[in-house]
Amino acid sequence: MTRSADHPIHAQFIPRHSPRAFASTEMSEGQMLQLLEAARWAPSASNNQPWRAAYGLRGDAGFATILAALNEGNRIWAGRASGLIAWASRSVVTREGQDRPNAWAAFDAGTAWGYLALQAQDMGMFAHAMGGFDAAVLAQSLDMPDDFTLHAVIAVGTYGNPADLPEDKRAGEVPNGRNAVGTWAAKGKFA
Ligand SMILES: Cc1cc2nc3c(=O)[nH]c(=O)nc-3n(C[C@H](O)[C@H](O)[C@H](O)COP(=O)(O)O)c2cc1C
Repeated sequence: MTRSADHPIHAQFIPRHSPRAFASTEMSEGQMLQLLEAARWAPSASNNQPWRAAYGLRGDAGFATILAALNEGNRIWAGRASGLIAWASRSVVTREGQDRPNAWAAFDAGTAWGYLALQAQDMGMFAHAMGGFDAAVLAQSLDMPDDFTLHAVIAVGTYGNPADLPEDKRAGEVPNGRNAVGTWAAKGKFA
């Protein structure tokens, strides 16, 4: 691991990364519920909890459905995951019978996915989000309501053998770096 923090932070952050070499292991429904439970406790605007998820466990029909909607470059490795989760948010909030746009739905769904990823790591698993999927196909095959917006598919599982990956994907198994805080945050103004 070549990563290091410039300022002291909790030990959970630096090792979390998004590998592709999953091990084709099974996961239980209980483990999936643990991951979703972590997401449940994310903060959200007015506590609206707009995140929505549809999941499949390796070997079941839901897993096959979500896998089929991924683009080829993702399907090639995500098929070895233990679970796949379609991550969405409800774009409106219903109050007094009226639907109003929720401007923070995507922001809140992102926070919840982050919690899930850290929970996976705590359980000895990894989570890898993907934007490379056919949203129209996925929405239709999962019966997604019209007022939901799909954000990502999340692959979760245990680490396997990088040699199983196509050569062009192996280099990506080394955790990548980050821009220094000073390049994107500044005191009193935007950097
Ligand atoms: C919303 C989102 C979409 C992403 N889409 C893809 C994807 O389609 N395929 C892929 O291999 N990785 C994808 N990634 C993984 C990112 O490339 C990865 O998180 C980023 O390089 C930082 O690396 P790390 O997660 O290992 O720290 C995505 C990540 C996020 C959060």
